[in-house]
Amino acid sequence: MHSSKVEAALNKQINEELQSAYNYLAMAAAADAQGLPGFSNWFKMQYQEELIHADKIFNFVLERDGKIELQSIAQPEIKDVTPLGLFENALAHERHISNCIFELKDLARSESDHATDVFLEWFVSEQVEEEANARTVIDQLNMVEGNRNGLFLIDRELAGRKLEEETA
Ligand SMILES: [Fe+2]
Ligand SMILES: [Fe+2]
Repeated sequence: MHSSKVEAALNKQINEELQSAYNYLAMAAAADAQGLPGFSNWFKMQYQEELIHADKIFNFVLERDGKIELQSIAQPEIKDVTPLGLFENALAHERHISNCIFELKDLARSESDHATDVFLEWFVSEQVEEEANARTVIDQLNMVEGNRNGLFLIDRELAGRKLEEETA
């Protein structure tokens, strides 16, 4: 059983993951509207990964006989819809999520909640990957500097992203 503080923080993290999913879904739409189906696909896959993250925490809370309290999800706000703008937004968002996970892990430790502490290990590694994935595309976009041919090639590459099988 978690402490009430840990339980509230896990519920908040479910909300963060669902908000992430919603943001990525908006980015998928924004990319598609610009004729970039590969970028759109990448964000759509990311959307699905975020749903899996939310689901993992949801299941963990219930498994430990905790209480789920779902919170509201805000309308996504995307200021810069250029490919680079979208990915910079994604990276900034993933950094925010990494901080949420670290804070949650610190809380679990201070509450001597070893089960939650161990459960969050997967998310710590996952965030390293999430940040690196966004950075890779940012590097590629910076390399082509808005060149249409380069953009076309990156779009084709991102079209190939599939949902990763869960390994954890
Ligand atoms: Fe996530
Ligand atoms: Fe993420």
